[in-house]
Amino acid sequence: MTSRTPSRLTLGISLMLLVSAAHAESSAVATYRDPSKPVAERVEDLLKRMTLQEKLGQLSQSVDKDSNDNLNNVITEGTTDSGVAVGSMIVGKPRPEQRNAMQRIAVEQSRLGIPILFGNDIIHGASTIYPTTLASACSFNPEMFRQCCAMAARETKAGGIDWTFSPMVDVSRDARWGRNVESAGEDVLLNEAFSIAAVRGYQGDRPDAPRPIVACLKHFVGYGASEAGRDYCFTEISPQTLAEVYLPPFEAGVKAGALTVMSAFNDLNGVPASGNRYTLTDILRGRLGFSGFVVSDWKAVAHLEAQAFAKDHADAARLALHAGVDMDMVDGLYVKHLPELLASGKTPAAEIDEAVRRILRVKFLAGLFEKPYTEITPVESRFGRPEDLMLARKMAEESFVLLKNKDGLLPLDAAKTKRLAIIGPLADDRRSMLGSWAGWGREEDVVTILAGLRAALPSCEIRHAKGCEIKGENRKGFDEAVAAANASDVVVLCVGEDAKMSGENASRATLDLPGVQEDLVRAVLATGKPVVLLISSGRPITIECVEGGARAIMAVWQPGSRAGDALANVLLGAVSPSGKLAMTWPRSVGQVPIYYAKRQGARPGSGRYVDASSEPRYPFGHGLSYSTFEYSKVRLSADRLKKDGKIEAVVSVTNRGAKPAKETVLWYLSQKAGRVSRPMKQLKHFEKAELAPGETREFRFAIEPARDLAYPDERGVRAADPGLFSVRAGTGEPVPFTLED
Ligand code: GLC
Repeated sequence: MTSRTPSRLTLGISLMLLVSAAHAESSAVATYRDPSKPVAERVEDLLKRMTLQEKLGQLSQSVDKDSNDNLNNVITEGTTDSGVAVGSMIVGKPRPEQRNAMQRIAVEQSRLGIPILFGNDIIHGASTIYPTTLASACSFNPEMFRQCCAMAARETKAGGIDWTFSPMVDVSRDARWGRNVESAGEDVLLNEAFSIAAVRGYQGDRPDAPRPIVACLKHFVGYGASEAGRDYCFTEISPQTLAEVYLPPFEAGVKAGALTVMSAFNDLNGVPASGNRYTLTDILRGRLGFSGFVVSDWKAVAHLEAQAFAKDHADAARLALHAGVDMDMVDGLYVKHLPELLASGKTPAAEIDEAVRRILRVKFLAGLFEKPYTEITPVESRFGRPEDLMLARKMAEESFVLLKNKDGLLPLDAAKTKRLAIIGPLADDRRSMLGSWAGWGREEDVVTILAGLRAALPSCEIRHAKGCEIKGENRKGFDEAVAAANASDVVVLCVGEDAKMSGENASRATLDLPGVQEDLVRAVLATGKPVVLLISSGRPITIECVEGGARAIMAVWQPGSRAGDALANVLLGAVSPSGKLAMTWPRSVGQVPIYYAKRQGARPGSGRYVDASSEPRYPFGHGLSYSTFEYSKVRLSADRLKKDGKIEAVVSVTNRGAKPAKETVLWYLSQKAGRVSRPMKQLKHFEKAELAPGETREFRFAIEPARDLAYPDERGVRAADPGLFSVRAGTGEPVPFTLED
């Protein structure tokens, strides 16, 4: 990151705003400038001072031209055409000095001195990159994820950004969709837990203190149900499924205090999410109690016309504001069209004022009026602190999912591993380890799989062969790869996707290994050498053609800056793998969408494919350890409970391994019958702990009807049905109990 003379942008702001500086209001007595005053009073005091143009400026988000060069007719200035500061700017690179220069003009030279909120997509790390959210979710360690988000918040602030467009909390059940990688997977409870963890990590835990940075729950709502896994398209979600599946992670994040929400691109049952007053106002504000502000997704207001919902851009602006989109991301339609819409009476002034009110409130709560500038710290101390890299490594270690380990091939014994082949296009690929939305992560900071194993096995004879590219048909590297395998005792084979094959606008019609990687795996397996197959990807990958031949298989996802040393620690046994799948792993793309919490079919055991298995390759929650954990039968404190009562389920778990290892106990509940048909089972509690060799520990789940047995109806009203339930721990037998009327 380099400090630079103010850009054209900053000069632009200077010129525009100097004009208004002459009218700068005396700030000595203004209530809105008095931090001792209640936020609500400061908001109202400021709002009443604002001109229409100043209000519309606050409803607009621009993007810093220098850091986002793939622009197409978006607002790229820090001011609107009428010379007032915008409410927010997206700045894609860490340039705190430049950011402060822009901020100084808005704060010190404009009439009211309203600070700009600088935003960016910090999704799984700013500069220190930890695993993608899908990978981190496999750790079932939301506390560690909170720590990662807190670390990201510190780096984000140091880089000059006050607001991250994160966490993405879209439940994702279709592996074809590219954006699974940004979510916590298919399960509602896991998404809720990671939503809360992220909001707390980003915004801190003290509602009375300025936030480290502002969080943004996205994409409201139902984006993960994009038909056929295609991006940006339509979703058909019943009100019941919306209430039970897609809304709860947002509700959890709102309750955790998230100050912003981003409206989605998808059309929801015929009404685009960014023009949907029912979801954005009736549900988000009425039902969930959200009091922050809503920003549209990138040009999603303009897209309302493309979605055949708005007649033109003016209509789009009217519909979006009325729906509840307070800030228009980069397309400038509010600034351009609201004056006429207001004058013609199509848009009431009250809608504009309410949107401005919400934005100002967040800026006050973020502490921006008191501390509008980024503290300029020494460049070398801003990013990549040792303790942060260590945390990124630990999260990576806990995100790996050991899918198969035949004959205990893993962990490899460092002392006995004399000749190791490290093969495949992902073995030494820095960029792919960072995954999509890698913030300001630098490839040069990445420890690759090859580098990590080389460092951990200094006396081992390591042969590296790429074998092939991630994509393409070139097989010329196969011979070298086969030769490396033949000359070695064990093969670590690194395959998967590149960073651009998942994330936004990166849906796939197949889930196979891309290019000729399957053939490479077959060629290496044909040598007969024991193979550890490492899959680095942004989604589950179908591996039926090679699953039988590989002795060990591990999903390593996209582990971030410390990929290689995290993997070396796990492959060599310093750390036992503890990840469990946050997304069901299909056998074929034809099974998709496939997820565990599905409702029971009319004929149990029937309705199966005639030409393939109907079971996943690996189920949600699957993940092996180097230890075996022995579960007792679940014991219940009672087999009946009343609606205001609770019973406790207990399971004893023993580590039968020779080393310490972490285990996550997944508690599922099932219900015999409900007012609407119920999923076959649902994760309702999970707990992770490390057990010493031979240690037995009790894991408890206090079942409370209001929290664990109740579920919402389509209006969001929660209730529990009396009747028969059962509880199970992990893959154990269900134990019945009854909820009394
Ligand atoms: C993108 C994404 C959204 C992101 C926004 C700003 O289109 O959908 O997740 O936060 O634009 O980059």
